[in-house]
Amino acid sequence: MIMEGGDWLVGGDLEVLERIKWNDGLDQYRLTPKELKQKFKDMQADAIFAFQLRNPVHNGHALLMQDTKRRLLERGYKNPVLLLHPLGGWTKDDDVPLSWRMTQHAAILEEGVLDPSSTIVAIFPSPMMYAGPTEVQWHCRARMIAGANFYIVGRDPAGMPHPVTKQDLYEPTHGGKVLTMAPGLTSVEIIPFRVAAYNKTKKIMDFYDPQCHADFEFISGTKMRSLALSGENPPDGFMALKAWKVLVEYYSSLQKNN
Ligand code: ADX
Repeated sequence: MIMEGGDWLVGGDLEVLERIKWNDGLDQYRLTPKELKQKFKDMQADAIFAFQLRNPVHNGHALLMQDTKRRLLERGYKNPVLLLHPLGGWTKDDDVPLSWRMTQHAAILEEGVLDPSSTIVAIFPSPMMYAGPTEVQWHCRARMIAGANFYIVGRDPAGMPHPVTKQDLYEPTHGGKVLTMAPGLTSVEIIPFRVAAYNKTKKIMDFYDPQCHADFEFISGTKMRSLALSGENPPDGFMALKAWKVLVEYYSSLQKNN
C-alpha cells in the first residue's frame, strides 16, 4: 500500500490549511477533535466513553456500551455521553462499506438499542490496518485527544482471521492488555470487556461463560453474511431487526451487481 501511494509520504508536524471534504453525503459526521469537544461541552457531559468500531452494531457491541454506561452511572457520573465512532477510512473488501454502516447505526439508535439523546455518532476518518494490539493504541489515543475519558475495548480489537488458516491473527485478549499498559494513554481510563456471544437459552447477547459453554453460540461475520445474503433473520436478540434489514439490503445489492 505504501509503494502504491506514489513518490512522497508526508510525516511530522502537519499544518492543514483546508478542511478535507469527501462529498459523499457524510461530511457532517466527520468532526474534528475540537468540534467533538465542543459537542460534549454543549451536552454537558461529565464522562465521555468512546467506542471504536468498523462493523455493523450487533447486540454484543451494544452490551459493552450499555454496561459501560451503567457502570459510569453507578460510579456517580450524572451525564455520561457515548461517542459512537465508526472508522471511516479504507477497510477490507468483505467489510460493510461506511455508508451502509452509517445507515445501520442510525437504525440502531432509532430502535432505542442505544440512547440517541446521550450519543454522538461521528466518523473517525482513519483507515483500518488490522494491526490488532498495535493499532488499538492509535484508536484509543486518537479518542483521548478528542476528549474521551473512557475507552471501551473488547475481544480482538482491530483483528482479523488469517486469510488462509482462518485463525485469528492476534491473541484476542492482547488488545485490552496492551491498552492497560500503554504509557501514552494518560487521560483515559480503559474499560476492558470479555467476549460476548449469543446465549441460546436466554436469547440475548451475553458475556460468555465457559461454565455453560453449551448455551452459547459464536455468530461469526461469515455466518452473519450468509444469513443476510439469503434474506434470513438472525436469531432473536442478536441485532435490532430494522438494523438487520439494512444489512440484508446491502448484501442483496451486492448480488444484483454481480
Ligand atoms: S474493530 O476492528 O473496530 O475492533 P469491531 O467493529 O468488530 O472491530 O469491534 C468494535 C469493538 O467491539 C472492539 O473493541 C472489539 O474488541 C469489540 N468486540 C467486537 N465483537 C465483540 C464480542 N463478540 N465480544 C466482545 N467484544 C467485541
